[in-house]
Amino acid sequence: MTTARTKPRQPRSASLPVFPWDTLADVTAVARSHPDGIVDLSVGTPVDPVAPVIRDALAAASFSPGYPTTAGTPDLRRSAVDALERRYGITGLSEDAVLPVIGTKELIAWLPTLLGLGPDDLVVVPELAYPTYEVGARLAGAQIVLADSLTQLGPRTPALVYLNSPSNPTGKVLGVDHLRKVVGWARERGVVVASDECYLGLGWDAEPLSVLHPSVSDGDHTGLLAIHSLSKTSSLAGYRAGFVAGDPAVVAELLAVRKHAGMMVPTPVQAAMVAALKDDEHEREQRARYAKRRELLLPALQSAGLTVDDSEAGLYLWATRGEPCRDTLAWLAQRGILVAPGEFYGPRGTKHVRVALTATDERIAAAVERLTA
Ligand SMILES: Cc1ncc(COP(=O)(O)O)c(C=O)c1O
Repeated sequence: MTTARTKPRQPRSASLPVFPWDTLADVTAVARSHPDGIVDLSVGTPVDPVAPVIRDALAAASFSPGYPTTAGTPDLRRSAVDALERRYGITGLSEDAVLPVIGTKELIAWLPTLLGLGPDDLVVVPELAYPTYEVGARLAGAQIVLADSLTQLGPRTPALVYLNSPSNPTGKVLGVDHLRKVVGWARERGVVVASDECYLGLGWDAEPLSVLHPSVSDGDHTGLLAIHSLSKTSSLAGYRAGFVAGDPAVVAELLAVRKHAGMMVPTPVQAAMVAALKDDEHEREQRARYAKRRELLLPALQSAGLTVDDSEAGLYLWATRGEPCRDTLAWLAQRGILVAPGEFYGPRGTKHVRVALTATDERIAAAVERLTA
């Protein structure tokens, strides 16, 4: 005799936040109706060409009938270690302290699960943050607290603390003292610190530091993970290319689970990543493009009466008119400009909008003209 399930299956998606972008349909329609077309600054999706050196490497590796390695090729791991040292002054990493991921969103969404966290564990997420930190904690069934300072945690010891400097959405940079404090505190308690360093190469008015930098870690990477995306600095969002680096013991544990789960970066993408990590020239050019767009857009927003807060680094301007963010969204949509409401990133964002620098020079110029008209 067959017995029916007594407990209906709960869809996994029911435990996740609603995908908020669907709520922008009305303002998007308004912005689209502008006679000179929409300037879409609502998402951070890169628009600039992929550097030829990277495309060539991808094409040259297209004959790849076998499975890729989960750990990444030795060349990829070496290139990542070297790039971290050259670009960000991170020393003391060995090749087994680096692991490629299928874009860092994938890693962030699964990190608590990969680390074996569950309902008894607490994950600390910045108060204004990239939504996937929370998604990852929910997928693991872990508890979540939004906090920017350790004192907010009280006596509770979390399993995992997220840092994101420069921040999405605010562009705020955490100083060396703050980073050292978190690292020291976490080290005493055996807490893993995952530092999302997606925008580390895009410092404007402040110099962002990696959690692995010797001035923060004193050369001891125990319990530390730095998450690096190639999506923004190399315009490789479409390739799905990133890596995690840090404590070799934690990286080995991630590798062991990812091997079983088939979380492998395709071989041609691994080859493209090697090319991207070895070549600093295209990365500097990309940075210069964003710097130029920021130089135009920031004063234009200010001249239109918006106050730009934080925004000292990264790919976004965190702006406010001192009113509910949906009103600012509507005001900008009237001018054909679409931005993201700050409330997407946490309850403290209700009066801000996030303005992305990821549009073509032509579209940025159109936005500037409309804002300064
Ligand atoms: C803070 C932050 N982390 C991670 C990501 C994910 O990047 P990717 O999955 O393209 O590596 C993003 C993307 O916008 C981001 O803003």
